[in-house]
Amino acid sequence: MLKYRNHLSEMPSYDGVERDYRIKVNANECNLNLPPLVEERVMSRLSRIAFNRYPNEQYDDLRDQIARNFNVDMDQILLGSGSSEIIEKVFYAFGGSARRRIVYPSPSFSMYKIYAKAAEAQAIEFALDENYDLDVDRFISTVRESKAQLAVVCNPNNPTGNVLAVDRIEEIVRSIDCAVLLDEAYVEFYGRSAAGLVKKYPNLLVARTFSKAYGLAGARVGYMIAHRDVTRMIEKTFMPYHLNVLSLATADIVYQMRDEFVPRIQMMVAERKRMSERLSGLSGVKVYPSATNFLLMKYDRAAALNARLEELDIGVRCFKNNARLENCLRISMGTREENDAWFAAIEKFVKEATA
Ligand SMILES: Cc1ncc(COP(=O)(O)O)c(C=O)c1O
Repeated sequence: MLKYRNHLSEMPSYDGVERDYRIKVNANECNLNLPPLVEERVMSRLSRIAFNRYPNEQYDDLRDQIARNFNVDMDQILLGSGSSEIIEKVFYAFGGSARRRIVYPSPSFSMYKIYAKAAEAQAIEFALDENYDLDVDRFISTVRESKAQLAVVCNPNNPTGNVLAVDRIEEIVRSIDCAVLLDEAYVEFYGRSAAGLVKKYPNLLVARTFSKAYGLAGARVGYMIAHRDVTRMIEKTFMPYHLNVLSLATADIVYQMRDEFVPRIQMMVAERKRMSERLSGLSGVKVYPSATNFLLMKYDRAAALNARLEELDIGVRCFKNNARLENCLRISMGTREENDAWFAAIEKFVKEATA
């Protein structure tokens, strides 16, 4: 018998089942590869990489660019292998024992629960209301009363797609004195970031990613913006050179050329509106408001519909066992053709079911 560390066997696994679907709209990825001009610059940069050297310069180049964009100093930026690594390390840094508490919304990104467990902290799930909105006053009192070390807000929220206005986020950050991790993985599709508040509030940590709007899920790059005292502490939890030179150089070019991504972000937002309207027109389908690159829909026969989509090699995210997301499916926006294809399949199923 191998003797693993305490509690590892009870730790939940990430519940995303990955398959190479014909139409893959289950993971909130960008379904387009890099814009050709960006790809050309990336390839040219990669052909000049010094594979034999640890990446020092490349860390600094990317951090410097991000810092200049947010008008903060470079030591206020931390890079991670996806924002996943940032979130995991922030949980680790504020966790450490069952007496340390981490409050996060539910339903939200399923990994918060796993990171809290990995950090050996006490997880406090804060229930969103029936429309999946976060009641700010109740959130603030939950954080205060539980004497939490870390509070998490996901804005826009995954998988519900809804948002909290920036002034409401500021109210949270101002009203509690523990660390607040704001996960802005989808903020480019919303357009209103609260990252500027970092200059005013040293307890605010903002996590961002290249995986969604910038289509770099395969390169695994994310970053955090916070007060330098915070980044200095969180940095201690990373191993040296945790990001590889290929990803750093790629993200550096993508960030330099981020204007090239604006038309496709606008296209995703337009598709979200178009598909939301089409889905809402189907009998028995409820579509939730979304400021992201995905839609959450509720339908009585969601499990059967999901099974039909699977047969057609269309992958959406089905929330089978989540008590707050019964009969819900989450669909990422793909290309216009992909969206028309999954919609046609859903429409056919719903019409047959109501016939
Ligand atoms: C809310 C949220 N945060 C963070 C992540 C992690 O993304 P990544 O590690 O690719 O940056 C995801 C991924 O789906 C997400 O939905």
